[in-house]
Amino acid sequence: MTQIIKTPSINTEYTFTYNNKNITIYKDDVISFLKKLPDNSIDVIATDPAYSGMNNKLKLGKGRIIGKYSEKGKKGSKWFEEFEDSEENYIAFLTECKRVLKKDTGHIYIMFDSYSLLSLGHVVRSYFDVKNLITWDKVNLGMGHYYRRRHEYILFATNGNTRKIRHRSFPDVWRFKRIHNAKYPTQKPVEVFQAMIHASSEENFTICDPFLGSGSSVIASMKNNCNFIGCDVSETSLEIVSNRIEEYINTGIDILQPKSASVDDKIFWE
Ligand SMILES: C[S@@+](CC[C@H](N)C(=O)[O-])C[C@H]1O[C@@H](n2cnc3c(N)ncnc32)[C@H](O)[C@@H]1O
Repeated sequence: MTQIIKTPSINTEYTFTYNNKNITIYKDDVISFLKKLPDNSIDVIATDPAYSGMNNKLKLGKGRIIGKYSEKGKKGSKWFEEFEDSEENYIAFLTECKRVLKKDTGHIYIMFDSYSLLSLGHVVRSYFDVKNLITWDKVNLGMGHYYRRRHEYILFATNGNTRKIRHRSFPDVWRFKRIHNAKYPTQKPVEVFQAMIHASSEENFTICDPFLGSGSSVIASMKNNCNFIGCDVSETSLEIVSNRIEEYINTGIDILQPKSASVDDKIFWE
């Protein structure tokens, strides 16, 4: 039976139960949040950090190369903080990920744009056993002056263990349409997170995403019958994600992505 328990507290923590699975989301900074988790407690980390590099360094003309970060009515303001992606911050992030991820079975998926992949992707090797670099083909073209952008990367690694993914036939190029006119500017299709979580989880696993955004990873985790824990530094994110979870529990409808992002007749895991 499905039960909803929503407990906003002073620290903005929401907890839900869904099909006997626990879902907890916090308003917190990634490092402070991860530091509160016990060692060896997470089965899968699937996350999409808010990199600052692409935005800061690849400015072209008057515009920023990615995203529409301006909040309506507030010229120049950003929707959310970018995680300052210096190597130092990234090392602090990876150190905590390594500590909380289970040693014998833990898998990690980290999303990268092409800029951050080259500047930070190599650091991941010092912490995890990198197994593959997955390409997410967004099908439709985005912005970009030197070739219009149509893809992002997902680095897949284990915490030094040999646990396999669910099926050896799964490909490393995934085709899912980008979300147009998203309520949250960097909202990813749920299917991208479903692919990661389905491939790397078993029922009752605990999935962690410390950069929640619109919460696509939470919906994907619920669809895979897993427990979930995550955070975002933005209050707006927490409001959007908690409403999204509540509506999904009550109606079975994902209010931020009512339609499938799939373009193929059959998704590879079906
Ligand atoms: C690229 S978005 C995630 C989008 C998400 N995957 C989705 O599908 O909607 C990155 C998120 O990281 C959050 N963020 C930025 N700096 C952070 C920090 N220091 N700690 C935690 N979250 C942070 C931002 O508020 C933003 O919501």
